[in-house]
Amino acid sequence: MTVSPPRTRTPASAYVLGIDFGTSNSAMAWRSGQGLSEPLAVEGAATAMPTALFFNAEDHTTHFGRDAVAHYLAGTEGRLMRSLKSLLGSPLLLEKTEVNGQAVSFQDIIATYLAELKARAVGHTGAEPTRVVLGRPVHFVDDDPERDALAQRMLLDAAHTAGLRNVGFQLEPIAAAFDYERRVNRESVVLVADIGGGTSDFTVVRLGPERVAAAAHTGSDRSEDILATRGVHIGGTDFDQRLALSHTMPLLGFKHTGPDGREVPSAVFFDLATWHLIHWRYSAKAMREAHALRTNYTDQALHQRLMTVLQERLGHAMANSVEQAKIASSQSGAGAAIDLGCLARDLAVPLPPDALQFDLAPLLHRVVACGLECTQAAGLQPAQLDAVYLTGGSSALRPFQAALAQAFAGVPLVEGDLFGGVAAGLVYSA
Ligand SMILES: Nc1ncnc2c1ncn2[C@@H]1O[C@H](COP(=O)(O)OP(=O)(O)OP(=O)(O)O)[C@@H](O)[C@H]1O
Ligand SMILES: [Mg+2]
Repeated sequence: MTVSPPRTRTPASAYVLGIDFGTSNSAMAWRSGQGLSEPLAVEGAATAMPTALFFNAEDHTTHFGRDAVAHYLAGTEGRLMRSLKSLLGSPLLLEKTEVNGQAVSFQDIIATYLAELKARAVGHTGAEPTRVVLGRPVHFVDDDPERDALAQRMLLDAAHTAGLRNVGFQLEPIAAAFDYERRVNRESVVLVADIGGGTSDFTVVRLGPERVAAAAHTGSDRSEDILATRGVHIGGTDFDQRLALSHTMPLLGFKHTGPDGREVPSAVFFDLATWHLIHWRYSAKAMREAHALRTNYTDQALHQRLMTVLQERLGHAMANSVEQAKIASSQSGAGAAIDLGCLARDLAVPLPPDALQFDLAPLLHRVVACGLECTQAAGLQPAQLDAVYLTGGSSALRPFQAALAQAFAGVPLVEGDLFGGVAAGLVYSA
């Protein structure tokens, strides 16, 4: 008689790991054999965590996710990194920056984050993944196929540095579609909209339980069911940038008229409003430039505020307050206050009830146009779709849903898993 080995959390067989490395949040899922995809807890019980790192200058430790953001907001001395995915495809990714006394590239920092994800996955599953599927947006970079290909190579290099092996890629909206498909009980043609932090991606797909079964039988890659894909480099971080330029940057001198009748040069405000560019403004050279702007201001108090933000490295805290107000205003349908207590005691600026609609309309128009173009590329009219499936954090944005409902009148909008759908679907495409 043979004795079975004790059951552990170690997978009995090889497993596939899906990694959704997002601009704002990352998530993972795994699947052993032909079972269902299972989400992995990445930070405590949470199955998604901010794509954020904090390098603590006091004790030289590295922190990830919510823990990283919490350290930064608590005022721990060190550096916060966010939105690193937005640098893929850009020469900035290979630039070195000093972290805890060492010169490292931003690509190395992405590798550090991926290595942490891998370690957490292995901690849960008890074994190395046999195969890894990384998500990628339809375009990392719009209208530039060479830089787009470079971006994927950069991400792959970072994955290898992180110790991930046997890595393949899948488009994020296609992964989201495969996840949704497990809940579809009849043949349907669906527009999947994945509206994230950095990009908005669409795909029109034929889904259905029989197609899942047939693919499992034949090993088909389902390419004949994918009727069109389109993507545009606009997401929640762009919404935050737009809102910051309208509502918080004027407090630092954006659009402020100087003694010569001209506006203060705006580059510093654009960078401070852009998640992945904030930390460039803290370099010695950029600080000198900001200091020299003094003569461009009529109101010196505004310049002083700008200098406080730079010297105390409050850029991410301000961006975070704008993002929180965006979400609160979207959820309540009312206005919200942008809390700038980090800058001065009790300082806050109102985000009026119509601000999301008003400020974001041009960006939302481009996102919805991308969805319509994808539908057209599939040879369909909106009315021929069975559903529009929504995933990604920014798909919850109220004015986005309103604009989409108008463009796809009569088509049911199905709200899906905001943060876990892509990771879950990645493993189905291995
Ligand atoms: N309830 C909400 N309403 C509006 N926006 C939201 C809400 N919740 C989160 N967001 C926004 O969603 C974005 C993050 O979404 P998500 O985690 O899907 O992006 P990501 O996967 O990291 O990015 P990408 O897929 O573009 O690389 C952020 O910009 C965040 O502000
Ligand atoms: Mg995403």
